[in-house]
Amino acid sequence: MRSDANIAGPMTDPVPGPRTESLGDGVSRETPPPMDDTPIGRAAQLAVEALGRAGEGLPRPDRTRVMVVANQKGGVGKTTTTVNLAASLALHGARVLVVDLDPQGNASTALGIDHHAEVPSIYDVLVDSRPLSEVVQPVPDVEGLFCAPATIDLAGAEIELVSLVARESRLQRAIQAYEQPLDYILIDCPPSLGLLTVNAMVAGAEVLIPIQCEYYALEGLGQLLRNVDLVRGHLNPELHVSTILLTMYDGRTRLASQVADEVRTHFGKEVLRTSIPRSVRISEAPSYGQTVLTYDPGSSGSLSYLEAAREIALRGVGVHYEAQPAHTSNQNSLQNNSEGMQ
Ligand SMILES: Nc1ncnc2c1ncn2[C@@H]1O[C@H](COP(=O)(O)OP(=O)(O)OP(=O)(O)O)[C@@H](O)[C@H]1O
Ligand SMILES: [Mg+2]
Repeated sequence: MRSDANIAGPMTDPVPGPRTESLGDGVSRETPPPMDDTPIGRAAQLAVEALGRAGEGLPRPDRTRVMVVANQKGGVGKTTTTVNLAASLALHGARVLVVDLDPQGNASTALGIDHHAEVPSIYDVLVDSRPLSEVVQPVPDVEGLFCAPATIDLAGAEIELVSLVARESRLQRAIQAYEQPLDYILIDCPPSLGLLTVNAMVAGAEVLIPIQCEYYALEGLGQLLRNVDLVRGHLNPELHVSTILLTMYDGRTRLASQVADEVRTHFGKEVLRTSIPRSVRISEAPSYGQTVLTYDPGSSGSLSYLEAAREIALRGVGVHYEAQPAHTSNQNSLQNNSEGMQ
């Protein structure tokens, strides 16, 4: 594994390690820490402190950074990245809004936000020009984190938007009219390049592309990049790919490091040095309506998203990012491997 493709780990175990539960069939699995012992938000805060930087905080951007999390390929980690990065940034002290722009509503679910059909949602904002402030909900357990949920109505929006005035810039207008102070807005896009994704690309300046470390990882990226160029040329001159994040990195396979090398050769400085390991804890968290930051704050998945958030925040103000020393990275990759084997 390339050392710079690894994530930085904590100097010490931040929270008591996960308990092991025997399933009686020779399989053992970690169980989440008991939720009623300590509030989960506090546990997550402990993980931030474990990184040794809680007091230090992170620099805030001088204006709201709107990041479009996009890749038309399905299942590459867009939603997982959106919600966990957003929670990480909020735990680092930022005010963050997640805009769920996917009719599947996965980001809303993962943040524990009610999004049944009657809930005011991003559909109302896009199609009925409802103010964003009327649909935004605070995320339970994570201070400073908010969500504009998606309901199933949004599935029809791609068609309904076609006949509306300024159909590509409706989200941009809604965001511009939103008066609450925010450091970051993260927009979770659907796995397509239709009008919903175009609305996101008109609303934001930065595109964040999660790339899954697997075969065919780069397939389809050309089309995504051409779309970014088209939107920049016609609708939003500020738009650029600012960040590429390698997801589901499995340090045990040569394929993962080959893909990581290829992506780094292709894109260079846009690729975050932090990559996200494949982790059972990350994939379990949404079914509890939680991010991995509150579900298992001390897990490698949680720490890697916190580290990725730190890298993004430092890059945003032009501060050089330094990964943690190699020995802690190694410790972390061992942890990744043992998690991956469950
Ligand atoms: N680092 C990870 N380790 C393990 N599982 C992961 C990781 N990241 C994402 N997953 C799992 O992979 C699946 C796809 O992730 P996710 O939903 O974030 O992708 P997506 O790009 O948003 O998908 P879609 O295109 O359908 O919106 C989910 O089941 C998620 O829990
Ligand atoms: Mg998704």
